[in-house]
Amino acid sequence: MSQEKAKKTAAKAALSMVHSNMIVGLGSGSTAEFFISYLIEKVKQGLQIIAVCSSKKSEFLAQKGNILVKNINDVNLIDITIDGADEIDTKKRMIKGGGAAHVREKILAYASKKMVAIVDSSKIVKKLGGKKLPVEVLPFGHKHVQTTLKRYSFESSFRKNEENSILITDNHNYILDVDISKSNKTLENIHADIRLIPGVVDTGLFFNIAKKVIIGFEDGRVEILD
Ligand code: 5RP
Repeated sequence: MSQEKAKKTAAKAALSMVHSNMIVGLGSGSTAEFFISYLIEKVKQGLQIIAVCSSKKSEFLAQKGNILVKNINDVNLIDITIDGADEIDTKKRMIKGGGAAHVREKILAYASKKMVAIVDSSKIVKKLGGKKLPVEVLPFGHKHVQTTLKRYSFESSFRKNEENSILITDNHNYILDVDISKSNKTLENIHADIRLIPGVVDTGLFFNIAKKVIIGFEDGRVEILD
């Protein structure tokens, strides 16, 4: 409950960065969904924006709230993307993909002038990797990706949905949650090694992407990492 308050605090604080006539990238996950709900209120009050969405769920919520949504291929440049994260370190490196949407989220972030992360304070960590690293993989040959990861000493498991079947992403792929906590390699090398395995679409590691991190606290305070 208090973590929810911290998420809402961060989401609300990001609203001031959105102005009329902007193209806004919408992230996924609970914090991004709080942001979408606040944005819907602003649109009701007259804010005029176009949204580009990183998941079917975000698109559904935005459209339900009468936000005008465009396909990413129908816009040139996104003015700002606001999204959550699972872990962020002091260099603003992030692990994302808890909502299985990191591939689209990264595409949006790269297509944006600015990406702003909104997180509750529990997401700020000294060292990334306490949580598993989501890796999106093609269904074809997916077991071989897992075997290769094991050869690299990374344990992993395929993410399941609520019915305990393998989770399918919006891109019709699978997610491997990879334990990187025991690796001595740098995050950059871990990312590069995993990206090179045939069948891997992308990892949930984001480097040099977040321009700003808005951190919400349970007591309503906000801190900014610039
Ligand atoms: C979805 C994400 C989310 O931003 C991340 O999982 C954080 O989620 P939440 O705001 O629910 O804590 O990367 O793929």
